[in-house]
Amino acid sequence: MSPQPNPEVTVRAATPDDISACGQICYEAFSKLSAKHSFPSDVPDVQTATNILSTLFSSPGFYCVVAESEGRIVGSNCLDERSLIAGIGPITVDPDAQNLGVGRKLMKMVMDRAQEEHPAGMRLVQAAYHSRSLSLYTTLGFDVREPLSCVQGRPRDRNVPGCVVRPAQPGDLEACNALSRRVHGFDRSTELADSIHKKTACVVERAGRVTGYATVLAFFGHATAESNLDLQALIASAESFGGPGILVPSRNSALLRYCLANGLQVVQPMNLMSIGFYNEPAGAWLPSVSF
Ligand SMILES: CC(C)(COP(=O)(O)OP(=O)(O)OC[C@H]1O[C@@H](n2cnc3c(N)ncnc32)[C@H](O)[C@@H]1OP(=O)(O)O)[C@@H](O)C(=O)NCCC(=O)NCCS
Repeated sequence: MSPQPNPEVTVRAATPDDISACGQICYEAFSKLSAKHSFPSDVPDVQTATNILSTLFSSPGFYCVVAESEGRIVGSNCLDERSLIAGIGPITVDPDAQNLGVGRKLMKMVMDRAQEEHPAGMRLVQAAYHSRSLSLYTTLGFDVREPLSCVQGRPRDRNVPGCVVRPAQPGDLEACNALSRRVHGFDRSTELADSIHKKTACVVERAGRVTGYATVLAFFGHATAESNLDLQALIASAESFGGPGILVPSRNSALLRYCLANGLQVVQPMNLMSIGFYNEPAGAWLPSVSF
């Protein structure tokens, strides 16, 4: 008897009706993967997964897709379209349907969209211990740009002398955007404006100037600064880090050492990957889990 062909998989735009099925898959995909490798899961429970996807599926600036097979949802993926560079993820496939090409289809769909709408480039962050996602993204054309350490804990230092950290105000937007353009070559103005509006963003000032900002000190937030000193002040000011932790570029040994000397612990290794425009950042920075 000839083997059964894999059932056909179609990918379409996500709707609010898909949130519950996708939240369940997202939770199961991440928890099975992390348990298999003895790492903590990025997503602690179904409710957290559902909340994340519910936010992304309904937020302007995000393009989200689901994969269906035989009338059943088998995975989802999201594209953050809020800046010049598009960010991909979280992508998850039902553990029972993995390694059958669904992930590649979900990636191709959002990559086609990114190529049309964000020709400058696209980025993502990948669990470095996961051979399959590393292989998938590499064969799709992504390059590893930066090894990252996800770190978590409560910093022992609560401030850095000479640096003042305060909530970001709408009037800080332009200074932060200018800083981002100097460090990365582009800004993330919409994302930062959102986080100022939500009151999660903060800035650090040195000698009366804004020298760094964070949209939120969390897995889903990014930070950009002139120097490690500014980033240290932002990190020290946080009561806690949302989600699995903040993402410290591992090659920034001085910053990683600062974190480790201040009571933070490495949770897991990750990689920042990109296609298209990428320049070595000219400053200190923490990417978000998106990029
Ligand atoms: C990562 C994930 C989305 C990929 O989806 P998937 O449907 O399992 O992946 P696909 O079958 O489309 O593609 C996997 C590819 O990697 C290849 N592959 C898998 N393991 C490999 C390895 N160790 N070395 C080389 N190639 C490997 C497969 O052969 C396949 O390549 P092909 O398309 O050329 O045949 C899915 O496994 C998942 O949900 N994982 C848990 C959550 C997660 O890690 N999400 C990503 C966060 S960055």
